[in-house]
Amino acid sequence: TTATLTLDPSFTVGAVDRRLFGSFVEHMGRCVYTGIHEPGHPTADERGFRGDVLDLVRELGPTIVRYPGGNFVSGYRWEDGIGPLEDRPRRLDLAWRSWESNQVGVDEFVAWCRAAGTEPMMAVNLGTRGVREAVDLLEYCNHPGGTAWSDLRRAHGAEQPHDVRVWCLGNELDGPWQIGQKTAWEYGRLAAETAHAMRRVDPRVELVACGSSNSTMPTFASWEATVLAECYEVVDHVSLHNYYDPLGRTLGDHLASGVDLDRAIDAIVATADHVGARLKSRRRLGVSVDEWNVWYQSRFDGEASLEWAEARPLIEDTYDVADAAVVGSLLITLLRHADRVSIACQAQLVNVIAPIRTEAGGPAWRQTIFHPFAQAAAHARGEVLRVEPRVACYDTADHGEVPLLDATATHDPDTGALTVLAVNRSTDAPLELDADARAFAGHRLVAATTLAAPDVRTTLTAADQQAVAPSPNPTARLEDGRLTAALPPVSWNVLRLE
Ligand code: AHR
Repeated sequence: TTATLTLDPSFTVGAVDRRLFGSFVEHMGRCVYTGIHEPGHPTADERGFRGDVLDLVRELGPTIVRYPGGNFVSGYRWEDGIGPLEDRPRRLDLAWRSWESNQVGVDEFVAWCRAAGTEPMMAVNLGTRGVREAVDLLEYCNHPGGTAWSDLRRAHGAEQPHDVRVWCLGNELDGPWQIGQKTAWEYGRLAAETAHAMRRVDPRVELVACGSSNSTMPTFASWEATVLAECYEVVDHVSLHNYYDPLGRTLGDHLASGVDLDRAIDAIVATADHVGARLKSRRRLGVSVDEWNVWYQSRFDGEASLEWAEARPLIEDTYDVADAAVVGSLLITLLRHADRVSIACQAQLVNVIAPIRTEAGGPAWRQTIFHPFAQAAAHARGEVLRVEPRVACYDTADHGEVPLLDATATHDPDTGALTVLAVNRSTDAPLELDADARAFAGHRLVAATTLAAPDVRTTLTAADQQAVAPSPNPTARLEDGRLTAALPPVSWNVLRLE
């Protein structure tokens, strides 16, 4: 089967917001403790951050990292995590039925972000707390000095403001599992009041209102309509969360997950624009897909049944090659919506449904899903091109007819670099990619890689990092303005021209 598309810099979707390559660190399971932070670890720095994990995070390249939750934030007192370590209280984390030591808090997290070369994205607690605590935290982080909270930050060693620009107004407050769940109207009012006050503290902040926890929620889209009717004029983005469970679905359906994300983004954009039209507003909100990933969620019994414990393993899913193709396809979907998706955070970064795994006291390693993220974050730059693939479809139970090829391309007008990202969703046959690249006369093919394996269930372990990795695709050619390559079944592919 052949898949054709056209690469032309004249036809663009929008600029690639670098924040599309975000990630997420929650105080959950072993994401923070024995994930990014483990003072006794042989590679730990003076603050207790694991150097081996920092190296992998730099290689992965997340541009922004959301923190500290997630469900955790809805019961969190941020003041517990500042000041001398020995004075920090031990608390019950009601979200994950854990004992929280508070050895990592906002100052440590911001310092870790600087070391990792990424930007912090903070969430405030609008589950059990409100306007006062949110503005106090913002004042602590961003006010230069001369007030009680900002001087306390300075006393804690951060002379310069943390300058956190992006703030989530709570987390998943539509969910019955959320501590402090609200009705859409209650939350919309609280988000509006909080946003209004936060803008008084620092007018430069960008604020994210909570959208639906996933697109199967019974209130999906109506939640956003009610929430945004209250806070549209004072927020910049509305969030969308979506996870894809491979269990109980065919491989073909799993590989079509991007279609579901695509429809969910369209639905939220339509809903936000409808509210904007009703309000006769000139504002256009971005969509912050600030939790997305493959998650073997049906393996998890849920938090209610957990015994109390500290930093125990939670949802440490092991990903295979098929999951990497799905993650690649989800990244392609996000890029194809670059005109409206402003931020996206893969959930999560370390151990908890994550591209990076660790052993306490032991090694850190890449999972299969590390590779598509790292390659997209490194190479998808500039403008997203409208490539309009033409290819045969296959039938899926969840989404009907789905194209065998999922693809996008980016072009950086500054460097001239062109990157094609492509997933072959076929479970049994290669695809012949045939791209018209005449508009890029003078370019050379500088790299073509494929991530695939004879057994799509192949996973990576600390001991066998090389079991799969992106490897050169020897079939790729650029000749007479045609870019061609054979894409193996269930594969993630990157073709780069300069
Ligand atoms: O990422 C795991 C959890 O999934 C987050 O805490 C929550 O926001 C979502 O339901």
